[in-house]
Amino acid sequence: MTISDSTVAIIGTGNIGGRLAANFAAGGQDLLLAGRDQEAARKLASDLDGHAEAVSVDEAIERADVLVFAVWLDAFKQLIAQYGERLAGKVIIDPSNPVGPDGAGGYRKVIGEQESSGQILAGLLPAEARLVKAFGTLSADSLSAAARRKPERAVQFYAADDDAAGDLVADLIRIGGYEPVQVGGLDQSIRIEMFGDLHEYGALGRVVTKSEALAAV
Ligand SMILES: NC(=O)c1ccc[n+]([C@@H]2O[C@H](COP(=O)([O-])OP(=O)(O)OC[C@H]3O[C@@H](n4cnc5c(N)ncnc54)[C@H](OP(=O)(O)O)[C@@H]3O)[C@@H](O)[C@H]2O)c1
Repeated sequence: MTISDSTVAIIGTGNIGGRLAANFAAGGQDLLLAGRDQEAARKLASDLDGHAEAVSVDEAIERADVLVFAVWLDAFKQLIAQYGERLAGKVIIDPSNPVGPDGAGGYRKVIGEQESSGQILAGLLPAEARLVKAFGTLSADSLSAAARRKPERAVQFYAADDDAAGDLVADLIRIGGYEPVQVGGLDQSIRIEMFGDLHEYGALGRVVTKSEALAAV
């Protein structure tokens, strides 16, 4: 399966879901858009030059082969509990950063210091679901601003245990206007989540090019 013969969906029409949808559409990718608020999904879809179709979450899960869950960690867990075996065989993309407000205007991690949401979610999915960690390394603003950057494209890191699923997501990263760089398997997810050493809000601290990314990996 390649990305051109896959049905792609984004669940969640907030900051990340909306910006990813715009990046994919700008690269010519057709997609399904689903959220709790169907009107918001319809409005977002109507701005994407015919590339997006607003559907219910249920329909997105039924039809899509590749799904980005652009929701917060708790909502992601709830969706896995709700849809369980219906996610088997699908490529599930996790952009989540396991953080919440720290009460002082910043963020703090909401899971254990050594834990990653990528590994937690992979453990909750049915065994045949193929989780890939991606699209969470940059802030929402950077995700829009750095897409299709010239002269050299900016990087988006990803982590995958399943090589074929990782290849599909690498294609999607290219379509969205970035250069993909794999950091390793899902056990490396923590490095590309917020506060990780390859995150814009971690030791890396910025958007990088491929040569900079490869030096950091
Ligand atoms: N914002 C960033 O800069 C950034 C950067 C990197 C990664 N991330 C990660 O990306 C994820 C989304 O962040 P965000 O900033 O886009 O959050 P957001 O703007 O709050 O959007 C979250 C979206 O999820 C939807 N949602 C919640 N529960 C749902 C459900 N059960 N079914 C369908 N949709 C549901 C919300 O719908 P409602 O409007 O109905 O609540 C909302 O559209 C998070 O895991 C975050 O850690 C964010």
